[in-house]
Amino acid sequence: MSNPIVHVDLGERAYDIVIEAGALADIGTRCVDLFGAGKRVLMVSDANVAKFYVSGTEALLLRAGFQVSVIVLPAGESTKCVARLAEIWEEAVEARLDRKSFIVALGGGVIGDLAGFAAASFLRGIPFVQVPTSLLAMVDSAVGGKTGMNLPQGKNLVGAFHQPQMVLSDLSVLATLPARELHAGMAEVIKYGVIWDPEMFSFIESHVAEIKALDSEALHYLVKRSCEIKADVVRQDEREGGLRAILNFGHTLGHAIENVCGYGEWLHGEAIAMGMVYAAKISEVAHGFKADETDRLIALFKAFDLPVSWQGLEWGALYQAMTADKKAENALPKFVLAKEMGKVGLPEEVGMELLKKVYDDGA
Ligand SMILES: NC(=O)c1ccc[n+]([C@@H]2O[C@H](COP(=O)([O-])OP(=O)(O)OC[C@H]3O[C@@H](n4cnc5c(N)ncnc54)[C@H](O)[C@@H]3O)[C@@H](O)[C@H]2O)c1
Repeated sequence: MSNPIVHVDLGERAYDIVIEAGALADIGTRCVDLFGAGKRVLMVSDANVAKFYVSGTEALLLRAGFQVSVIVLPAGESTKCVARLAEIWEEAVEARLDRKSFIVALGGGVIGDLAGFAAASFLRGIPFVQVPTSLLAMVDSAVGGKTGMNLPQGKNLVGAFHQPQMVLSDLSVLATLPARELHAGMAEVIKYGVIWDPEMFSFIESHVAEIKALDSEALHYLVKRSCEIKADVVRQDEREGGLRAILNFGHTLGHAIENVCGYGEWLHGEAIAMGMVYAAKISEVAHGFKADETDRLIALFKAFDLPVSWQGLEWGALYQAMTADKKAENALPKFVLAKEMGKVGLPEEVGMELLKKVYDDGA
C-alpha cells in the first residue's frame, strides 16, 4: 500500500491526514504521540456512527491511558445548532477538560464541524482530532480547518477557522455508510477532478464498479488525492481570500437548491451535482468549455445515481436564492466556471440572461 500520510503544511498549524483501511486501530498510540499519555479527552459522535464505532474507539483511547468522556448527539444536520454546541461545552466542563485536553470528532461533516467549533471555542481553543466517517467528511469537511454551525436564519453562519492536530481517515468505516451518502461524497471527489485533476476524473470513469464496491485501493487513491488537492488549495489560501473559492464549483446553484427545497430533500453532494452541471453549461458559453466534457460529467454523475437536472425547480425562487447567497457581493450571482477539464477560474459574475437561458435549456 502506498504512503498513507498527507501532510498539510500550514507552518505551526501543520498536521497529518492518515488515510488507511484500519487506521482507527492506531488512534490511541497516535494520540499519545501527539498529546502525551494521561490527558482528558472528550469524544463527540452521532447516534448512527456511535452504534458501530464509539465503544471500540473509547476502548482504544482508554487502553492508551487517556481519561475518556463521550457525548453522542442525534444524527442529522439539525444537530449543528447552538443547543447541541452548548451540550458539548457543558460535557467538557463536567469532564474537567483543560487546555491540554482534546476533543475527538468521530462522525460525518456535521459532527466534525460542530465538535471542531466546540474545540475552537472552549477555553478559547483546545486541540482536536478529526475522525471522519463519511466519504464527504474524509475528502472535504475534515480537511481545511473550517468549523461551525447553523443558525435558524441560515447554514454555517457561525464558525471559526481551527485546524485539527490530526485527521484519521479509516476507509473501512465506509462499509456501514449508506450508499446514498457514499454517492453524495463522490460528487465532491468528482468536483476535484473537474477543478484540478483530469487524470483523477478519468480514473473515476474507469473504476465506477470498484468504487461502488468499496475497493480499498481505489478508495485510497481517491481520498488521498482529494485531500492532497484540498490541502494544496488551503495551503495557498487558508482563509478564503482567493484561490479557496474554486472549491465552490457547483455551489452557487447547489446552495440555492438546498435553500429553496429545504435542507433534507437533497443531500449536499446531490445539490452540488446539479449545480456542477449547470456551471459546466454556463462555462460552455462563457469559456468555450467543450460540450463533450459536460456530457462526461453528466454520465459520471448518473453512474453514481446522482441527480443532474434542475427540472421542476422554479426559476424565480432559484434566482432569488442565488443572488441572496452570502458569497454574492452584489445583485449578480458569482460562479466558478470551467475552462477545460481540470482548470477553473475564480468566481465571476454571470448575467441573468445567460443564467435563464441555461436554466431553460435544461441538462
Ligand atoms: N467544514 C467544511 O469545510 C465543510 C465542507 C463541506 C461540508 N461541510 C459540512 O458537512 C456536513 C455534511 O457532512 P456529511 O455529508 O458527512 O453529513 P453527516 O455528518 O450528517 O453524515 C451523513 C449521514 O451518514 C451517517 N454516517 C456517517 N458516517 C457513517 C458511517 N461510517 N456509517 C454509518 N453511518 C454514517 C451520519 O450519521 C449521517 O446520518 C454539512 O453540515 C456541511 O455543511 C463542512
